[in-house]
Amino acid sequence: MKDILERLEDRRAQARLGGGEKRIAAQHARGKLTARERIELLLDHGSFEEFDMFVEHRSTDFGMEKVKIPGDGVVTGWGTVNGRTVFVFAKDFTVFGGSLSETHAQKIIKIQDMALKMRAPIIGLFDAGGARIQEGVAALGGYGEVFKRNVIASGVIPQISVIMGPCAGGDVYSPAMTDFIFMVRDRSYMFVTGPEVVKTVTNETVTSEELGGAKIHTTKSSVADGAYDNDVEALLQVRRLIDFLPANNLDGAPEIPSFDDPNRVDDSLDTLIPDNPNKPYDMKELILKVVDEGDFFEIQEAFAKNIITGFARIEGRTIGIVANQPMVLAGVLDSDASRKAARFIRFCDAFNIPVVTFEDVPGFLPGTAQEYGGLIKHGAKLLFAYSEATVPLVTVITRKAYGGAYDVMASKHVGGDVNYAWPTAQIAVMGAKGAVEIIFRSDIGDPDKIAARTKEYEDRFMSPFVAAERGYIDEVIMPHSTRRRIARALAMLRAKEVERPWKKHDNIPL
Ligand code: HXC
Repeated sequence: MKDILERLEDRRAQARLGGGEKRIAAQHARGKLTARERIELLLDHGSFEEFDMFVEHRSTDFGMEKVKIPGDGVVTGWGTVNGRTVFVFAKDFTVFGGSLSETHAQKIIKIQDMALKMRAPIIGLFDAGGARIQEGVAALGGYGEVFKRNVIASGVIPQISVIMGPCAGGDVYSPAMTDFIFMVRDRSYMFVTGPEVVKTVTNETVTSEELGGAKIHTTKSSVADGAYDNDVEALLQVRRLIDFLPANNLDGAPEIPSFDDPNRVDDSLDTLIPDNPNKPYDMKELILKVVDEGDFFEIQEAFAKNIITGFARIEGRTIGIVANQPMVLAGVLDSDASRKAARFIRFCDAFNIPVVTFEDVPGFLPGTAQEYGGLIKHGAKLLFAYSEATVPLVTVITRKAYGGAYDVMASKHVGGDVNYAWPTAQIAVMGAKGAVEIIFRSDIGDPDKIAARTKEYEDRFMSPFVAAERGYIDEVIMPHSTRRRIARALAMLRAKEVERPWKKHDNIPL
């Protein structure tokens, strides 16, 4: 018996070594952790239960029958994050470069099926060279099976991908269909085809970093939702994110004990809005002062900064926040901002996370660049996302709510449940200057008349009261009591239920 147990221990020890000490040292020398070290950091200490440690590939081509490594390049299993079950797979770059074989895919599929069956989040850690080149179509088939499961699980369980090394070819499309992608700066890159193929096909010379590094994907392509300096930081932040997320689409937003009084007032908010309506202020200050303990997990912080999206809590319960940022492009809505916020709202709606909107928006961005780029279609995504959402929607207009953007940003007309305005709000078709130049065109050239007309327009429309008179705003509130008003609204909306006509699915403009 002792020998049998020892043999098991030996086999386990050998499997845990993956591609061997030399390759582990090379991995460390590149500033990367191994798959198992990453899992240890991601999960609660000692909670990891591994599956399929002894699985090996079955390939016999190109001499592969002579090189079999237990685990076959991916470590899979489950564990807990702050006590809540999650499933995990981590590509092991030390084994065949983490490349995906038929059996490697079967290990991931098993975890995906298990996560869906148990309705628990799944996290994939990527560091791999794409399809196992020696296997050909068997690897492609494996990818297809993984992709299909990503789609079936979408909107049912949270799916998170962390890119911690190379992620190329077939490996990019599974993360692309998950809810969130995070990258490690300077060590990870994602692209469909690498620099060599790019050179051959388009004659462009680019480095991996320029083609698909964390900077590109968090600022330009918007493929990734955040970037961190190293493996440890990335994994700790994923743990933090998991705390904000429900396990599935039926559990409802998670709640943790909060020590932050929901009735807390913040007098500094009364002076947040500058006297000059064209002067910016930082909307993040409002967010941090309103939410529990100033704890805000921002999504896509570096992309389309004119809109802010992220998770926070009120009375311990997760909310999604969407907020125009007057500090960037005056908080205008453009194609990128619309896409960013629309996707975030759809995630919140799928997982029953209430959405709180802070609004200060001068309208949609004019110009050929925007129109040629499909502003109508992208702006419609945001309008669509708010209009189809059935989760509680609470809106606070702090200053400008002009034109179509007023309608789009969770107005009562498209489904806002509780809509507040600060006394500084200006709810109008457009700013006074633009309005006067159109409706009093004949007065242009007479500065006195224009000034008088502008004042008249400002007095009539540049306030929250015309909207409040019509019931388009439920209440004009004191800025300092914003936290209390939102908390009360969310408490009342907990039981919200909405019936919609049956449909197979909607047809959001893509
Ligand atoms: C088999 C692979 C591999 C792969 C890497 N390795 N990628 N083995 N299949 N796809 C092996 C290497 O042979 C090497 O083995 C070890 O992993 C480490 O690789 P290195 O090249 O030494 O590492 P590095 O210099 O860091 O380069 C990493 C890399 C590079 C950029 C990922 O290995 C690379 O370009 N790999 C190929 C990428 C690729 O073209 N994949 C196929 C994409 S097509 P030894 O034994 O020497 O240590 C695809 C189609 C699917 O995925 C489409 C579905 C939609």
